[in-house]
Amino acid sequence: MSLSRIPFFHGVRLKISPLRSVLFVCLGNICRSPLAEGIFKSVLEAEGKAEGVLIDSAGTNGYHTGEAPDARSIKVAGRHGIDISGQQCRQLAADDFDRFELIVGMDRMNIAAIEKRRPVGATAQAGLLYEIALGHPKQIPDPYYGTEADFEAVYRMILAASKGLSARF
Ligand code: 4NP
Repeated sequence: MSLSRIPFFHGVRLKISPLRSVLFVCLGNICRSPLAEGIFKSVLEAEGKAEGVLIDSAGTNGYHTGEAPDARSIKVAGRHGIDISGQQCRQLAADDFDRFELIVGMDRMNIAAIEKRRPVGATAQAGLLYEIALGHPKQIPDPYYGTEADFEAVYRMILAASKGLSARF
């Protein structure tokens, strides 16, 4: 590869390139991270890069374990042609830190909770979605107590980040 073709990334340096696995994490795994899982899958598929890539989502708490995503997340994804209704909420587990090369949190509270759960010696790299994807220290706000417009805004933010993140795959 000539020097001019080596991709340039802002911000976070990743240990593995190209990546083959990513876990999206939020607090409840019913609003933001299921959207991120669905949106990122559709971005990679559109770019022809999805085959063999492991993409999943989880929550730092287990309050909603086994539930489908929030109806408002299902609705906003559906409006944009993405079906996330078959996803099932689960909590972040110790073996996620070995199964995934990259674990991305939606906000800084998620990152703190991810690091608290990290088993000693675990290999996964963890960071803020926007920082890793686009080099911005921006957080995806929790829309749980918000309006439909807040879910649409979250969708757009995650789509922009997903397009940036796909360059690492
Ligand atoms: P999420 O949103 O972290 O984007 O899935 C939330 C979902 C549920 C709750 C909080 C945030 N909850 O408190 O139940």
